[in-house]
Parts: sequence; C-alpha cells; structure tokens
Amino acid sequence: MDMDNQDMTLTNRQGHPISDNQNIRTVGNRGPSTLENYHYIEKISHFDRERIPERVVHARGAGAHGYFEAYGKVGNEPIATYTRAKLFQEAGKQTPVFVRFSTVVHGGHSPETLRDPRGFATKFYTEDGNWDLVGNNLKIFFIRDPLKFPDMVHAFKPDPVTNLSNPERMFDFVSNSPEATHMITFLFSPWGIPANYRQMQGSGVNTYKWVNQAGKAVLVKYHWQPLKQGMKNLTQQEAEHIQAKNTSHATQDLYEAIERGNYPEWELCVQILSDDEHPELDFDPLDPTKLWDHEQFPFLPVGKMVLNRNPENYFAEVEQAAFGTGVLVDGLDFSDDKLLQGRTFSYSDTQRHRVGTNYLQLPINAPKTRVATNQRDGQMAFVVDRASGQNPHVNYEPSSLGGLVESAPSGKEHEPAYQAKLVREKLSRTNDFGQAGDTYRSFEEWEREDLILNLAEALKVCKPHIQEKMIAHFTNADQDYGKRVSDALSRAKAEAAHLGSSSAKEGAELVEHSGQRTD
Ligand code: HEM
Repeated sequence: MDMDNQDMTLTNRQGHPISDNQNIRTVGNRGPSTLENYHYIEKISHFDRERIPERVVHARGAGAHGYFEAYGKVGNEPIATYTRAKLFQEAGKQTPVFVRFSTVVHGGHSPETLRDPRGFATKFYTEDGNWDLVGNNLKIFFIRDPLKFPDMVHAFKPDPVTNLSNPERMFDFVSNSPEATHMITFLFSPWGIPANYRQMQGSGVNTYKWVNQAGKAVLVKYHWQPLKQGMKNLTQQEAEHIQAKNTSHATQDLYEAIERGNYPEWELCVQILSDDEHPELDFDPLDPTKLWDHEQFPFLPVGKMVLNRNPENYFAEVEQAAFGTGVLVDGLDFSDDKLLQGRTFSYSDTQRHRVGTNYLQLPINAPKTRVATNQRDGQMAFVVDRASGQNPHVNYEPSSLGGLVESAPSGKEHEPAYQAKLVREKLSRTNDFGQAGDTYRSFEEWEREDLILNLAEALKVCKPHIQEKMIAHFTNADQDYGKRVSDALSRAKAEAAHLGSSSAKEGAELVEHSGQRTD
C-alpha cells in the first residue's frame, strides 16, 4: 500500500493529534504526575477494560468468513417440498457466512489438542435475516435434558478448589448419567481429537423442523461433511506430540490455509423424518444422545460452504461473535427436543451478559438485511434501528402516526397440536446403551484400541465404585467393550502400583544414602 499520501498521525479517541506518546505529564522530569493527563488516562483506562468475560463454554476458538451455495434441491427432490427457507431455494444462490470453531471445556488460551468435542457454529446472513446453526463435530451429545447442563459443565471443568482437571469428576457425573455412555464412546476414541478444524465434520446435533409453504413440517438434522480437505482424527499420542510444540495448531492451520488460498469446503446434508413419534424406532427421534441411522435416513445434500476470508480483527469478529439456536429464519423451526429448547434461552441470555445488551448491533452479529425495530437505548446503543420512512417519534406499535407495521405472513403458520399432562419425566424410550454398542462395533480396530487405552488411563484415577459403574455401562453397550476396558484398567492400575512402589523404594534408598529423616 502506498502510504506516502496518507495521514498516519496518531490521535486519541477524541480525534486530538498526539505529539508525545512516550512521556506522561509530570511536575519536573522526576514527577509526580498530574491528574489531567487526558491522553494517558484515556489510553490506560481503555486498556484496563480490554477483556470481556470469556464464553462459559467454548471459550477457545477461531473463525473465518465465507459463503454458502445452495443446490436448490434436497437430494433429488425440489427443496420447496420440505422448506420455504429462501436461502435453499435456487441452485447457485450464495449467502455470506461466518463460522466459529471451538473447543468446549477449557479457557481461552488452552491447548487445541485436548480431548473435547469441537464447536462448529455457522451464521448465515440470509436475505430474511440471520440463521445460526450452532453445532459440534460429533453428531450426538452427553445429555438429553437441559436441566443437567450446568452440572455437566461443572463436572467437566477443573476442580473448584485445586483448579486442576480431574477425570474422576467427569466420570463421577457420567457414571450417574448412563445416557452419556454413547457420547463418551466417541469422545475417548480418536473422534475426540479432530486433527484440526478444517478436517472435521459438523452437526447440528439437535432435531429441528423444516416448514413448507402449506405450513407442513418434517423433522430434520443438519450435518456438515468436509469436502476436498477430507477428515482426520488423532490418537492421544499424536495429539501429545503436537501439543509439546504448539498449543494453537488448529487456529494456525485454519488461518494459514485460508491465507494460502487453500479454502476449506463442507457440504451441508440433512436427514429428514416425518414429524411424529416414530414408535417403530427403539429410540425417540428427539433424543440428542442418538444417531439417526444413515442407511435408514440418508444424508441428503442441500448446498456447500466455502471459507475464504480470515477475520481482520480477532476480538471484533471472533470473540464478540454471538450465535444462538433461537436464531432461525422463515421456513426453519424448532422441534420439541428438550435440549434444544433449553439451549435456546441460554445463548442470548449469556450474550447479553458477555457482550452486552446491544450485542446484535455489532457488525459481526448484525444481519446484512434491513433491521427496523422499536427496541431503543441500553448500554452502548450506537444506532437507532428504524426504517428510513419511519416517523422518528413513534417507537411503538400499533400506531397510525407513521410507525412500523407487521409483515404479511410468508406462508401458512406451522401449528402443531398438543394434548398431554404437564409433567417432569424422561422420554420413555431412553435405550441408553444400544447405540453406544453399535458405535463401538462400527469403529476400526485402531480406534477401539485407542478408546480402550484412553478410558483406562482416565478411569485409573477414579474411585473403585466409579470404575465399576463405568465398566457396567460399557458392558451393557457391548460385552467385549466392557471386558477390554476392565482388563486395560487392571493393567493400568497394576502398572501404577508398580511404579508407585518402585519410586517409593527409590525414594527410601535416596533418604538412606543422604542419611536424612523422612518424618
Ligand atoms: C456455546 C449453552 C448444548 C454447541 C455455548 C454457550 C452457552 C451454551 C451458554 C456460550 C455462548 C456464548 O457465550 O456466546 C448450552 C446449553 C446446552 C448446550 C445450555 C444444553 C442444554 C450444546 C450442544 C451443542 C452446543 C448440544 C452442539 C450442537 C455450542 C457451540 C458453542 C456453544 C458450538 C460456541 C458458539 C461460538 O462459537 O460462539 N453453549 N449449550 N451446545 N455451544 Fe452450547
């Protein structure tokens, strides 16, 4: 860039040119300083406020911009049969997107090699306003009821006293939550450490609905399949090797691939089921701890996504990005999946705290379409989002003085009917272990070996009753699975006891030689 003709003068936030950015103003050159040092006080007090609270989960992340291109059909059928959402209708239609990838449990600078699900959150800036698809790399989740989420996250995060991670806390929770057995089977296999953010799948996990022009709905699950870059997971050993040298390998990989012009691409696929209870299945389709078998319910491609632009500023775009499961456009709807409904409150609630009341005014979060609301004020409001023809005095609706008016409905409303008692109950078809066994058997042998080793390594620090409960869960999933974990755990414990006794012996010898007392 030719900078010769540009004014590069440093100013403060008030636009005052700064002629000395090295010395504060003092009485004589040895001080004391004075309180009217406006430039210094403004600079330091802004610095003092540079951090916002990190996300309570998914704090560590990386992001990129790109576009989604629709195929205009779902599999071989016209997409309008199932949804009227405009972004999908025309083949070749492009919608800008922003994606944030993340790990889940640990803080903002934790190593990206840790065993953890990976977040895969996509914001589609559609002509009908924003749609957020807030997914993970794995297709299922630990729990099915949102009431358990804060406990689950507490158990997975470091101990509140020592601030140390301890697998006993995680397995204490999981052994008492058998529905987590399936997710644990994925997480402790190589699927729990994707090689990087480009070479992994994504999934909406929860069940949503698609609604067509006639107001008719189907159940859908969304999946992102990596295209040319392929998919790759790591064994624990491979991950440790990377972690010894680089704690930001996934951020670096994504950033550098995009800088080189090697843009990662994913195909968006959906699975579709009719909107009913499906008594023929041995699980409830609304249960997020379950896969929908891909042979029975095929993956139908609906479009592809290309990520081709790095953020210009990490904080403004990646840190302040706010995704939520409530952010849907016309033609997309919620299902009755309880976890989804619980999530939907949580995201915008935390974002009002984490980013601020007006988080949706920030460029990364604002839709790229017109916004005209009667919401006003609040901390850091910097635009009045009103229509150009709107009477500025009318910030309410209804009005006959030139205020905003409701839109015409774009199609028939989807109106599911309910008749049931208000209860606190589990889904009736829990089947906590069946699919965990299927998943175990579907792994390749090297994946099973890594799974067994990783489980034994984590379980060996747990109390015996927790180990026993976990082995019972794995045995319920598959006899061979339970037996192999049990055998590997016995070996790991024997090894630890041997190491413990030989190091105690070495310690005693050392004490003897130095002639020191140990008490
Ligand atoms: C982030 C809540 C389950 C994927 C978050 C955040 C909260 C949260 C509070 C932080 C958001 C922010 O600060 O902007 C919950 C609750 C859940 C749940 C209450 C269950 C009841 C899930 C599931 C998935 C998921 C099942 C995967 C499908 C994500 C992702 C992010 C996230 C990807 C990071 C978004 C970003 O990059 O900014 N979740 N979550 N969560 N959650 Fe969940």
